[in-house]
Amino acid sequence: MSEVDCALAAENLMLAARAAGLGSCWIGFAQGWLGTTDGKAMLGLSVSSQPVAPIIIGQVRSWPPPVTRNDPDIRWLEASTA
Ligand SMILES: Cc1cc2nc3c(=O)[nH]c(=O)nc-3n(C[C@H](O)[C@H](O)[C@H](O)COP(=O)(O)O)c2cc1C
Repeated sequence: MSEVDCALAAENLMLAARAAGLGSCWIGFAQGWLGTTDGKAMLGLSVSSQPVAPIIIGQVRSWPPPVTRNDPDIRWLEASTA
């Protein structure tokens, strides 16, 4: 589950950035190169490392307006009392 753990950590990083007044964006486009020998060397990573969540953080010119979201589809399970 290490990739999922990384994604959760990435979300926390992005939420913390927002709380600090900074913008962030997950740049999946960069993952291919960062996973190469040159990319890992630039980041000082071992050859066996695998980058998961390339995220840029910076000052925003303006915050985008909220976008419309679909309602979440949540299924609640209840423990049986029988
Ligand atoms: C796995 C992943 C990879 C992404 N890669 C890119 C990217 O390469 N370039 C980019 O501009 N945004 C990238 N994003 C950001 C998305 O385009 C989008 O802005 C973000 O998921 C927020 O979605 P929203 O517009 O519904 O709020 C990526 C997001 C995720 C989750």
